[in-house]
Amino acid sequence: MARSIFIFVIFFLISFCYTHVRSNDQEGYITVDISNKGLDFLKDLLIEKAESSLLPLYLPKIEKAVKIPIVGKVHMVLSNITMERIDVISSTVKTDDNGILIAVSGATANLSMNWKYSYSTWLIPIAVSDQGSATIRVEDMDIGLTLSLKNLQGSLMLSVQDCGCNVKDISIKLDGGASLVYQGLVDAFEGKIVSAVENAVSKKIKGGIVKLDSVLQSLPKEVPITNIASMNITFVDDPKLSESSLDVEIDGLLSAKDKIIVSNHYHKTLQASFSYREVDKMARISLHEDVLKSASAVYFKAKKMHWIVDNISDQSLLNTASWRFIIPQLYKMYPNDEINLNISVSSLPTIKIEKQQIDVTIPLDVVIDVLDAGEVIPVAGFSMVISASISAEISGNTLFGRVKLNQFSMSLKWSKIGDLHMRLVQSVISTMLKTVILPYVNVQLRKGHLLPAFHGYKLQDTQIVCVDSWIIISSDLASAKRFRIA
Ligand SMILES: *[C@@H]1O[C@H](CO)[C@@H](O)[C@H](O)[C@H]1NC(C)=O
Ligand SMILES: *[C@@H]1O[C@H](CO)[C@@H](O)[C@H](O)[C@H]1NC(C)=O
Ligand SMILES: *[C@@H]1O[C@H](CO)[C@@H](O)[C@H](O)[C@H]1NC(C)=O
Ligand SMILES: *[C@@H]1O[C@H](CO)[C@@H](O)[C@H](O)[C@H]1NC(C)=O
Ligand SMILES: *[C@@H]1O[C@H](CO)[C@@H](O)[C@H](O)[C@H]1NC(C)=O
Repeated sequence: MARSIFIFVIFFLISFCYTHVRSNDQEGYITVDISNKGLDFLKDLLIEKAESSLLPLYLPKIEKAVKIPIVGKVHMVLSNITMERIDVISSTVKTDDNGILIAVSGATANLSMNWKYSYSTWLIPIAVSDQGSATIRVEDMDIGLTLSLKNLQGSLMLSVQDCGCNVKDISIKLDGGASLVYQGLVDAFEGKIVSAVENAVSKKIKGGIVKLDSVLQSLPKEVPITNIASMNITFVDDPKLSESSLDVEIDGLLSAKDKIIVSNHYHKTLQASFSYREVDKMARISLHEDVLKSASAVYFKAKKMHWIVDNISDQSLLNTASWRFIIPQLYKMYPNDEINLNISVSSLPTIKIEKQQIDVTIPLDVVIDVLDAGEVIPVAGFSMVISASISAEISGNTLFGRVKLNQFSMSLKWSKIGDLHMRLVQSVISTMLKTVILPYVNVQLRKGHLLPAFHGYKLQDTQIVCVDSWIIISSDLASAKRFRIA
């Protein structure tokens, strides 16, 4: 039982691991706001990835005929021009209504190449030639990239609006038997090399973004969250870009994995706007209570919300002998027999997110089963309503929860053992709930649930806040490795 409640409580956290975006005229039930700090983190990741996937970068061969006094026309070829290394020292990311602007300034790069020349003149009728290798050092390169992020049929579409590369300074050094003449020849190629580098870098970046875009577009619109439920991660509306953040919305509702349609009876009257302010975190995920409701609907309709209680810490309570004075008829008919409680949720629980807690009201059917001579005999049925508050907390990378009982009521539905003294029964069950069941559930919740890492990254310094109808999770991300050291 504790386990099911626990799974229920952590739905929203698992969802963190699948944060992608969507939008239209409706609104999503999950919004993800990435702050400048978060964008900076993502930008660094992107550049780190780009540095390795850009290289080695092969530039096209450059040929040129150079006229040299007395000697005449010399045919020169630069080939196998390869950029092997690029170092980005400074970069920035900005967002505005136009898109996402990434700027790299003062980058350096090392290239290698082969050079070759040949000529023949009337003085020396035989063709003369020489060849060798050279290194090129790009001393100062700026790259500017403007990306637009739009919603395309529920997926994110990333496209390049503008991409420019500007090389301000290069130096070429010939290796091997190069003379000053050769150096002079190579220097004549400087302009061509600069534009070749500029073109190749921007072309490669554009190609990289196209690849990234196809990855985004191929993301599934549904991800499994538990073994029976999956979350609709269709992006709703275009991402909202402002100077302080990038906000995306996803549908976020859960439905049964096997595609049995769960009717979405939720009113789309959402607006996640809070006066609530938190310390600067990389991302803020706002989760509407309808996400929890959709999860409970899936579990309810899949008939997963029932439990047989046959093993509790104080096992003597599950014996008719313990109930001798409360339900004397029961003991008289079945002396010293074991009891099971068959508990099932009888209709959809109500879930309301209030300040600092999640209030749930769960209507239950409880049947007392007696185990007599290997037979399970239902002897009495009750309907019960439990109201409880759940609070959640994240410490390190672990989610903890706590349940507090607010209200409890029960009534007899039927009985095969005659009239029961309901006041007495209710007070005993209430005591059992408070002293046995809830403490047990809380022990389970206190053990915590380790949040999974996502592509090697983990949540760090996470805060959970509940406000009217929304759960807000603010968090930084850290690489799982760095996290361990910290
Ligand atoms: C081309 O350059 C690469 C990288 O510097 C080098 O490994 C390769 O041997 C070169 N090829 C030729 C034909 O020079
Ligand atoms: C790149 O070129 C510079 C200048 O020629 C040199 O000092 C540096 O060691 C080179 N770096 C690599 C990784 O080859
Ligand atoms: C997923 O969400 C989108 C947007 O709200 C909706 O149009 C679509 O029908 C949903 N898909 C399913 C399978 O419920
Ligand atoms: C009851 O649970 C305990 C631990 O929770 C376990 O060790 C024990 O075997 C269980 N007993 C039965 C009868 O299932
Ligand atoms: C538990 O009770 C439900 C009805 O409330 C019934 O359908 C189910 O068969 C019972 N299970 C057991 C093991 O008694």
